[in-house]
Amino acid sequence: MILDIISKKANNYELTKEELETIFMGYLKGEVKDYQMSAFLMAICINDMSDSEIFALTDIFIKSGKTLDLSFIKGIKVDKHSTGGVGDKTTLIVGPLVASCNVPVIKMSGRGLGYTGGTIDKLESIPGFVVDLTLEEIKKQAEDISIVITSQTEDLAPLDKKIYALRDVTATTNSIPLIASSIMSKKIAGGADKVVIDIKVGNGALIKTKEDAMRLSNLLIKIGSYYQKEVKTVISNMDIPLGHNIGNKLEVLEALEILQGKEQGPLYNLVIELAGKMVSLGKEITEEEAKKEVIDNLNNGKALKKFLEFVKYQHGNIENLTINAKVYNIKANKTGTLKSINALNIAKLSQSLGAGRKNKDDKIDYNAGIIIRKNIGDDIKEGDILASLYTNIDNEKFNLERIFEIS
Ligand code: URA
Repeated sequence: MILDIISKKANNYELTKEELETIFMGYLKGEVKDYQMSAFLMAICINDMSDSEIFALTDIFIKSGKTLDLSFIKGIKVDKHSTGGVGDKTTLIVGPLVASCNVPVIKMSGRGLGYTGGTIDKLESIPGFVVDLTLEEIKKQAEDISIVITSQTEDLAPLDKKIYALRDVTATTNSIPLIASSIMSKKIAGGADKVVIDIKVGNGALIKTKEDAMRLSNLLIKIGSYYQKEVKTVISNMDIPLGHNIGNKLEVLEALEILQGKEQGPLYNLVIELAGKMVSLGKEITEEEAKKEVIDNLNNGKALKKFLEFVKYQHGNIENLTINAKVYNIKANKTGTLKSINALNIAKLSQSLGAGRKNKDDKIDYNAGIIIRKNIGDDIKEGDILASLYTNIDNEKFNLERIFEIS
């Protein structure tokens, strides 16, 4: 039976919901083996899925676990998701910013794996910050301060978790149907009323082309509408890293700079875009009205105040957040204009400095990472510092090739 289902997909026939249930739930129970599921996932990557297969798979993922009921919290709850990027610390800024506009944000986040970071690791780099909250604690915090960011519980879409881990090691992460079902199952099980999804496109992202991003966007909106959850998407560039800092504690420090009004540029612009959409959904106002409120709350300090309140509530100590690491500067080897900063290669470098995991159980160094010192389009002189590397790894020859393009 399992072999018949695998061959049916390998031969490009459409599967029924029952067939999908048999193989996927069989995998969750351990009856279908890793090698069988790997072959099946590869067949999906090659032959794609129809919309009805994608809807069925999303439903199977959701029903593999529990669904959180957030109806005890007043107001429209708006969640946010990113398909994963390099230097993407937007949740740290957008969460408190949206909550400061009186839209409750109750968000479950994950850890980083591979080259992209995870919000939970970033928050954990703040000394004392607690990321594992019970349902009772989530409820109380949501009522008290309207913002909670906690790690995803084991019983939320557990099948997605198991499949995602297998996709990560079988080169099957970049299938649009699998990405759509994975994201939407977690968002629906997470209990929010509406969702904003940031689809990253570029060499440092899972999705490489604008066409794939558009297809994913349409699918996310259609799946959301089936479950009566309004979804808005943003398609954003991931050919270059987002902002200047990459690495857990460094990213918290950059988030603080944005909240203190000290930094403008692509990160600031994306924050306004995402928070604007979330507030517009949460308050049922136009995006222009919402963006105005969002910008006001960044300027008048309300967003910063909410961030500090949120960190304190989850026992974090944000004062004296220092980077304890050795610093190496990368200098330009020629004069010209900075044309590009390769996001994927920066992410690989950051991982080699200790900021990311190669395997699920690796320990990360919260102090490790990179500060990029120049912007695209800047005039560069030979010898100028392009970036500073922070690491506690000794005697390592770091790979600095194909990161900065100057011409
Ligand atoms: N983010 C997810 O949650 N799942 C995917 O498959 C890709 C990005």
